[in-house]
Amino acid sequence: MSIGLRPYLPSDAETLAAIFVASIEQVACEDYDVEQIAAWTSKADDEAAFGARLAAQLTLVATFDGEAVGFASLRGADFLDMLYVHPEALGQGVATTLVDALEKLATARGAAQIKVDASDTAEPFFAARGYRPQQRNTNEVAGVWLANTTMLKLLAANDAGLSGSGGRV
Ligand SMILES: CC(C)(COP(=O)(O)OP(=O)(O)OC[C@H]1O[C@@H](n2cnc3c(N)ncnc32)[C@H](O)[C@@H]1OP(=O)(O)O)[C@@H](O)C(=O)NCCC(=O)NCCS
Repeated sequence: MSIGLRPYLPSDAETLAAIFVASIEQVACEDYDVEQIAAWTSKADDEAAFGARLAAQLTLVATFDGEAVGFASLRGADFLDMLYVHPEALGQGVATTLVDALEKLATARGAAQIKVDASDTAEPFFAARGYRPQQRNTNEVAGVWLANTTMLKLLAANDAGLSGSGGRV
């Protein structure tokens, strides 16, 4: 099935919140315990706040036959904030399509590198794409500690250019 990509619309908030919860409860549950999963999914409890976070970033929605199956967001020029794929759409290149597009957009915004705080579930996905671990983080979410790993990938197009130009535009 071919994967469509489009920008986030405010009317997507409810569907993307459901994808966020399903992907954490059914996929990330292999790497985090029940309390951690509940704390993580609680970030979508306030749907308006969840939608506002997506609207404030460059958020792309991946679709199968027009139906949303995943989403990813770029904060600023160089931070990949969210990446979630519906459990029924896993392993079909949805995350690859989303991250390919965000890396191109980061490059277009002048970034020489892109960073992500990768969940333990997503770390192998990012490692396979050339992201390298920088540091381990432990963050408190709703009173529960969740670990992730900051990973960084150099964006070749701008890395070469920046070394000569002296700085980020
Ligand atoms: C990580 C995630 C986004 C990957 O989504 P996906 O659409 O299944 O990924 P793709 O189909 O594009 O996979 C691309 C490659 O990565 C591999 N891959 C994906 N998830 C993987 C995982 N958890 N472990 C190991 N390899 C993985 C795939 O096997 C595939 O390899 P291939 O090209 O050799 O076949 C998905 O597992 C997810 O939603 N996880 C839960 C939420 C989460 O942790 N989000 C990240 C927050 S930072």
